[in-house]
Amino acid sequence: MAKYLVISTSGNPDSNSRRMARVAFAHLQKKKVDCEWIDLRDLDLPLCDADKCYLNNGAKKLNIAVESADGILVAAPVYNYDVAASAKNMIELTGSAWEDKVAGFLCAAGGTSSYMAVMAYANSLMLDFRTVIVPRFVYATGDAFDGDALKDKKVVARVEQVADDLVRFTEALRG
Ligand SMILES: Cc1cc2nc3c(=O)[nH]c(=O)nc-3n(C[C@H](O)[C@H](O)[C@H](O)COP(=O)(O)O)c2cc1C
Repeated sequence: MAKYLVISTSGNPDSNSRRMARVAFAHLQKKKVDCEWIDLRDLDLPLCDADKCYLNNGAKKLNIAVESADGILVAAPVYNYDVAASAKNMIELTGSAWEDKVAGFLCAAGGTSSYMAVMAYANSLMLDFRTVIVPRFVYATGDAFDGDALKDKKVVARVEQVADDLVRFTEALRG
């Protein structure tokens, strides 16, 4: 049976990408797929120094979680027209653990102009590690949320669609 992982990469305790990740995780659990949750906020990760960082317990835990999964949903904030450095640091800490995985994205942004922000990140996963990228992602701005709730039903449906696509692509590629 394929294994799935939902990763929240935002450092913000009031994160909208984490809210979407929770919706995706609940959806995958409802579908009875084997799915794990990991929040980078809980791991106290070091910045990648290409040296001692790999000995950090959080980095080891993250590597095992990525390595063990077949399909991974990354929930990320958009910072400076890219995904946040925390999400990039995660790839630098885990590198080849992403080989031959399937990955999808849930992005939270402040405005609509950074719509393509995830592409450089997706390209690096695709070309460095042959990660297969789900060719549909979620991009939501603050007005989709009301306090702790993801209130925009279209965004909820799209989060669920991306989660379903992750399963569809992962199952198909596993043959
Ligand atoms: C340092 C910083 C840079 C940001 N840069 C952008 C940006 O380039 N484009 C954008 O649409 N929003 C930008 N934002 C707004 C965030 O994308 C928005 O707050 C989003 O909700 C962050 O995700 P999170 O809530 O999951 O942490 C930025 C916010 C911060 C703190």
